[in-house]
Amino acid sequence: MPKWLKDAVFYEIYPQSYYDTNEDGIGDFNGIIEKLDYIKGLGCNALWINPCYDSPFKDAGYDVRDYKKVAPRYGTNQDLYRLFGEAHNRGMHVLLDLVPGHTSEEHEWFRESQKAEKNKYSNRYVWSGHCFEPMKGYPYIGGESERAGVYMLNFFKCQPALNYGFQKCEEAWQLPTDHPDCIATREAMKDVMRFWLDHGCDGFRVDMASSLVKNDDEVKSGTCAIWRNVREMLDEEYPEAAMVSEWNDPQRAINSAGFHMDFYLNWSGNGYSTLMRDYESGEDRSFFRKDGGGDITRFLDEYVPNYLATRENGYYCLLTCNHDTLRPKYNLSDRELKITYAFLFTMPGVPFLYYGDEIGMRYLQLPTKEGGYQRTGSRTPMQWNDKKNAGFSKCPADALYLPVDGSADAPSVAAQEKAPDSLLNTVRALLALRHEEEDLQADGEFEAVYAESGKLPFVYRRGGLLIALNPSGETVSAPVAAAGRTVRFSIGGGTVGETAITLEPQSFLVLQVTP
Ligand code: GLC
Ligand code: CA
Repeated sequence: MPKWLKDAVFYEIYPQSYYDTNEDGIGDFNGIIEKLDYIKGLGCNALWINPCYDSPFKDAGYDVRDYKKVAPRYGTNQDLYRLFGEAHNRGMHVLLDLVPGHTSEEHEWFRESQKAEKNKYSNRYVWSGHCFEPMKGYPYIGGESERAGVYMLNFFKCQPALNYGFQKCEEAWQLPTDHPDCIATREAMKDVMRFWLDHGCDGFRVDMASSLVKNDDEVKSGTCAIWRNVREMLDEEYPEAAMVSEWNDPQRAINSAGFHMDFYLNWSGNGYSTLMRDYESGEDRSFFRKDGGGDITRFLDEYVPNYLATRENGYYCLLTCNHDTLRPKYNLSDRELKITYAFLFTMPGVPFLYYGDEIGMRYLQLPTKEGGYQRTGSRTPMQWNDKKNAGFSKCPADALYLPVDGSADAPSVAAQEKAPDSLLNTVRALLALRHEEEDLQADGEFEAVYAESGKLPFVYRRGGLLIALNPSGETVSAPVAAAGRTVRFSIGGGTVGETAITLEPQSFLVLQVTP
């Protein structure tokens, strides 16, 4: 386990939208380098950068055309190597995004695979045996290549599935996972990883990590075996490299596949979605809404068993948002966000903050861009100040990659820096607290102390610290003995009695035993 993860706090950067230094309207590596001190000052000591490789950008770069070359829009490979170095100089780590399940239809491997004559790449992708032979139960495309077969898709039409084999082969064209050509796919992906790790990258966020082996069994044995093989390589050759999976099943991802971390993602109706994004049901009972009705058990019932089952092996990670999800500001006020972040940043595992959430950037209603569809509105340019284009770029406004939030009260870093009580300064204070208190870090103990359905506050223990929070508009108390404890950190107020903790509306307290 890479030691640096224990106190890591990640900042996800959608590189198109962070900071543009050459005035072409799109963010770049030099822009990220210029902002490293800002990110470090926030308390984030690690980055995850969305795919920044050469791509036709039909899915914002998740359609990779060349795994070893960066997209010219962001700069050169040398610029990215410099970014790794500049981050390391500041004690920061950088994860790239690895897209192992599919490539762009313009990748050279796929061009070769489409040829009628058999070659080294014929089996790099999943093809049926005949151009009129469909792939039952799988999305596929036919009629676009010289080769007489249809090929399987992993996501959009532009993303043919790489071939890691089938756990259970049912048709002649389905190869077993130990077929030399399927092993060659895995080895090619390890080669890509080594390439970036050798140039200073610190690991990967792994896209659709559970998607590799087709017709896999329920516990994903085939896919897990591939990742365990990758983990062995890392342990041997790059023991400080970290891997976080986009899987949303930590018992599989961490315990069986060997990922160091797995994301708890927003899937409609799951435990995580009840915290901030309960609006899909029509009636929004999100736990962190002032009027949400406050039921933390909807989250804990799913979270706790997963946490307990995986904590010895890795970290189950909570995030504010990501590039696929509506920003939390969509339905939460700044005050609600403060309590939300206070919770997310004092939980076990490694927290992830999506760029712009630290100032409460809005979700914007926008037409789709580069395969974003409804995700586009969470991908807009970072709002640095009240100057032209919110300080994101000096180019003409109509040449921006995506429009900036033009509303009169659009939040910005510059404005929030000046306001002691701003969301930005609250995030800084919370992350500073996390770095100071080992008990709050990734593997500090967690236990729910008072967590009653429909009752508040929610009280939990992290090692020697007792934490109480109240997202509601009422004053609430819990029968928790906290005598002898004093307030170490607070948002809003509360009192600690002999036999109860009382919290004012929308407040958060961290209590320590008096030193
Ligand atoms: C993941 C990414 C998403 C992308 C998809 C296909 O879910 O987070 O942005 O479109 O995979 O690669
Ligand atoms: Ca640029």
